[in-house]
Amino acid sequence: MQITDSERFDPLTPANLQDPFSLLADLRREQPVYWNEKYSFWMLTRYRDVKAALRAPGQFSSATGAELERRREDFPESLGPDLDVCKRFVYGQLVTADPPEHTKQRHAVMSTLTSQMVGELRTAVEELTDDLLDKMQRVGGAADFVSDFAYPLPSLVIFDLLGVPSEYHGMLHRSSQAVVAFPSAVYRKDGETVEELGMVFREAERALDEIIKARRIEPKDDLISRLVTFEGVGDEMLPSELVALCNILLVAGHETTANLLSGSLRYLLESRELWEQLRSTPDMVPSVVEELLRFVSPVLWLSRVAAEDIELSGEVLRKGQRIQLGIGAANHDPDEYDHPERLDLMRPKVHSLAFGYGLHFCLGAALARMETQVALSRLLDRLPNVRLGSRQFEYRPLYFLRALKSLPIVIQR
Ligand code: HEM
Repeated sequence: MQITDSERFDPLTPANLQDPFSLLADLRREQPVYWNEKYSFWMLTRYRDVKAALRAPGQFSSATGAELERRREDFPESLGPDLDVCKRFVYGQLVTADPPEHTKQRHAVMSTLTSQMVGELRTAVEELTDDLLDKMQRVGGAADFVSDFAYPLPSLVIFDLLGVPSEYHGMLHRSSQAVVAFPSAVYRKDGETVEELGMVFREAERALDEIIKARRIEPKDDLISRLVTFEGVGDEMLPSELVALCNILLVAGHETTANLLSGSLRYLLESRELWEQLRSTPDMVPSVVEELLRFVSPVLWLSRVAAEDIELSGEVLRKGQRIQLGIGAANHDPDEYDHPERLDLMRPKVHSLAFGYGLHFCLGAALARMETQVALSRLLDRLPNVRLGSRQFEYRPLYFLRALKSLPIVIQR
């Protein structure tokens, strides 16, 4: 049976969710500016197009929440309140805003999450890393690197940084996972999931609101206190905006670094000589992290909306249409990187689009780099003989993130 383009280029099929890079390579080669009829979005996969789009935020708007409004008709009216809370939670913050709303929030985060703060966190990250490794070593034998290390490390770091008390951790873990599950649920027109996510968000909204109120009354030495007391934010932003801002920091802190850590260990151990090469040259860890960012591409797609009609490669992207920018595809574009499907630890200076580019460039890049460098250095040092426990890799069904569900490893005591 002949397979159509719409099936081949469907990022949400089980096969493409597990191995998106084949789909991305086919798209980039055959239809680099592709209108996906099924999901009503454009898919851009060439490095030069994706970077040019990120350079032109006036044309490629980040305010994707408005576009969600049009997708409401895919759901029964009874889900209105659930879609409302999803919208507030997922689209009420800087990643999905254009200037001037974006400017205010970005300035606040940049001023409060400084590189000095990240530098000061290094010792705490080293201690957390050692605690997690101690625990894994004590148990010995089989472990799941995702649930025992890759997820807990960045989550504990971001909870600590924001100042979220431990009684809220479980709930906010669930809501971070819910945020990243939301786009796929919308594209699948999956009302049941939207309803469940709505419930999780309502609970998370209440939790964050409580923490924010407490920090307003009695500020502490944490990021939430700094944000709520920051001029023009604490006094001017709506409570729902503050909640969404704190939430996006939590989500970004949880979901992306975890995927970089687990993806990195997978690829380094899959071909043992890379692991041994890095063990013999641990000074290379910082530059290797840049190559891992490119190769793993923890975020595969960014979302934009055409702010005007845009002509590109003979196509017209109509005003209001959704556009998916394939940063994962761009990071594997052979026009930009020699042998892109090779994880090359010696690759000279890698400038990938893994953290985005331009106006919305990741505000947690320094933190994510530091955490990954510390984690990799410690892993090489403390678990030199670690092995993969399985060569079957299952990814969570999130088309825009590359998130391993688990990574079984074997630790020799
Ligand atoms: C490996 C880890 C990470 C990756 C791959 C990553 C990737 C990205 C990307 C691609 C963007 C651009 C979004 C866009 O243009 O639409 C972004 C934005 C952002 N990231 Fe990260 N991120 C990571 C870690 C973090 C961490 C740890 C934090 C928080 C502490 C964080 C906070 C943010 C924020 C606040 C933005 C929004 C910036 C803006 O809209 O102006 N990220 N990130």
